[in-house]
Amino acid sequence: MSVRVRVPAKVNVQLAVGAARPDGFHDLANVFLAVSLYDEITATPAADGLRVTCEGPDAGQVPLDRTNLAARAALALADRYGRAPDVHLHIAKDIPVAGGMAGGSADGAGALLACDALWGTGASREELLDICAELGSDVPFSLVGGAALGTGRGERLTELEVGGDFHWVFALAARGLSTPAVFREFDRLGEGLEIPEPAADQAVLDALAKGDAAALAVAVSNDLQPAALSLFPELSDTLAAGRAAGALAALVSGSGPTTAFLATDAGSASDIAGVLRASGTCRDVRTAAGAVPGATVLE
Ligand code: C5P
Repeated sequence: MSVRVRVPAKVNVQLAVGAARPDGFHDLANVFLAVSLYDEITATPAADGLRVTCEGPDAGQVPLDRTNLAARAALALADRYGRAPDVHLHIAKDIPVAGGMAGGSADGAGALLACDALWGTGASREELLDICAELGSDVPFSLVGGAALGTGRGERLTELEVGGDFHWVFALAARGLSTPAVFREFDRLGEGLEIPEPAADQAVLDALAKGDAAALAVAVSNDLQPAALSLFPELSDTLAAGRAAGALAALVSGSGPTTAFLATDAGSASDIAGVLRASGTCRDVRTAAGAVPGATVLE
């Protein structure tokens, strides 16, 4: 018997970043929206020990050892319930790797839910969310999905209302960016400056609640964008190409380097995707809509 789980990617419609904390993390006001790009994680009982395999266009870039968040999730759950982590985790990867769309976090949340179902641990939702928070700042949101405000280092979630579908285009970059490196660059660019406490922007929350893409386009913001552009200046060309193609808003997704373009509707998203694909400013282009549910066991 196997358990298959589908987990969405995310885009941050607001990412407000505070000063570095003593533990090296940053306090955030992070408004997540789950979008319809998915990884699928299949957990199958194995005879002896943990094995991770991966398929998909970027599979070669995914580590298959115990640094993989899917492997760490299975080990954490097995440890908590005092059982052997005898499981084969297979990841069908469609979310860009090292892209700022929580692909690794999705695999962590997906593997956790899949192993939990396979092993019948009876863990509560709160226990699963606790393990997610230990695995990484974005992992709880991958489990929950929809739209949520993340505070603390992003792991403390308040679910948000979403009044309609938002249509997006995502431009995948030629190379990845390391999240810690982008936060370090944020610190370097902010040296000597007063960094305000991060707070959720009411205009973002209102636009989400109304399902109003034009209002969301005006309100979106990402404090990590200058740092991502500093490390990867060519992303400015991608952002400009998407704006010229008619995107309502163009921004770096999370720590990047994936760039996100908000469209008025699905047809416009498909037109913008075509222009971006032909622009030569990115490696690949995808369209998606959100909000969508978080990690889900497939029948
Ligand atoms: O929590 P996660 O392992 O996903 O974070 C990856 C890295 O991103 C951290 O090691 C840290 O460098 C940076 N980070 C941060 N502040 C946050 C979240 C992540 O500085 N709130």
